[in-house]
Amino acid sequence: MILVTGGAGFIGSNFVLDWIASTDEPVVNLDVLSYSGNLRNLASLQRNARHVFVHGDIRDRPLLDRLLADHQPRAIVHLAAESHVDRSIHGPGAFLHTNVEGSFVLLEAARAHWSGLAAGRRESFRFLHVSTDEVFGSLEPEAPAFTETHAYDPSSPYAASKAASDHLARAWHRTYDLPVVTSNCSNNYGPYHFPEKLIPLTIVNALAGEALPVYGDGLQIRDWLHVGDHCRALRAVLERGRVGETYNIGGGNELANIDTVRRVCALLDELQPDPAGPYERLIRLVADRPGHDRRYAIDTRKIERELGWRPTETFETGLRKTVQWYLAHADWVREVQSGSYRDWVAQNYATRTPGPA
Ligand code: NAD
Ligand code: DAU
Repeated sequence: MILVTGGAGFIGSNFVLDWIASTDEPVVNLDVLSYSGNLRNLASLQRNARHVFVHGDIRDRPLLDRLLADHQPRAIVHLAAESHVDRSIHGPGAFLHTNVEGSFVLLEAARAHWSGLAAGRRESFRFLHVSTDEVFGSLEPEAPAFTETHAYDPSSPYAASKAASDHLARAWHRTYDLPVVTSNCSNNYGPYHFPEKLIPLTIVNALAGEALPVYGDGLQIRDWLHVGDHCRALRAVLERGRVGETYNIGGGNELANIDTVRRVCALLDELQPDPAGPYERLIRLVADRPGHDRRYAIDTRKIERELGWRPTETFETGLRKTVQWYLAHADWVREVQSGSYRDWVAQNYATRTPGPA
């Protein structure tokens, strides 16, 4: 049995689905179901006895103690977080509460549980702390990609809160010997991605004939990794990663945002052409994100060398599958766009006057 936090979110639900499909081991999935958590992502597991969903907060220590005592997981995969940079700019408080305080409460509960285990189970226990490349800050155009020892230099409240949680997780290993392994991953994309993030936002806006907002000059570079490859990497880190170590995970797909948006448009032109013309006509350059990091790139040599992991999807194959998934799941999109989603879009883009691309 493993305990996954945030398993109803984008990466979490992909991870849980992948785990159930590729192992025999049950999962307890603890998620507070914030705006980005969606049980519909896990609908296929409704009658699966190996998936136990618990609605709750990682800051709820009595709940954590009860879950750990009842289910005796051999590992915790910690994904629960506030994850959107733009939201962290509008309201940083929630990011500190969940990403910093929540990780602290979870680490403390894990430590209490792990300390009470019998010797063999203590040795094999793992706490996998899932983090981001954003903790490293921005890279110059020609600078080498982030290695695991790159200095931390977070730019956004989101990145700073994740950096803080990384420091806590490592300190809990050094000070208390808690068997922590950390991963820092680049931008994911794929099914169940909440459409506040660049790729799904572009797909859903294009299909609705709405503007495709690109921040600043659109030349910021992100390294895209298909979420399925991230899930396989997390399984490898959990099973074979060395305790106390960090593993960087990335797709080797460095692309300027404007090119990413153009690629999505080209795929949509092919798969669901708009009689009004090519989707690129909808691209608009809008006001930049404050503190916007210019470039991320990940050096994946360590995880390749030590754990034998490498991505299986190219950006071409992964993006095509992703666009096809969104075209086939209009009902999922409709559901997540109801409620507070519209308020967020209005708030985030209200002051971003669009200009031509
Ligand atoms: P997401 O926003 O889609 O999902 C986060 C999940 O956490 C949601 O289901 C939400 O309900 C849950 N959650 C939030 N606060 C909680 C709380 N207090 N208690 C319990 N559950 C809570 O995010 P995501 O994109 O799936 O990211 C998952 C993790 O991976 C995060 O830690 C993020 O920092 C990290 N990460 C994401 C990416 C990416 O590109 N999306 C890349 C690298 C690392
Ligand atoms: O790098 C890993 C990180 O990737 C994760 O830690 C975060 O949880 C995840 O949200 C993602 O962060 P980004 O800020 O890179 O993702 P986002 O999709 O918000 O933006 C991707 C790029 O596109 C970024 O440079 C900002 C830009 N962008 C984004 C939006 C929403 C636009 O140009 N227009 C937009 O409307």
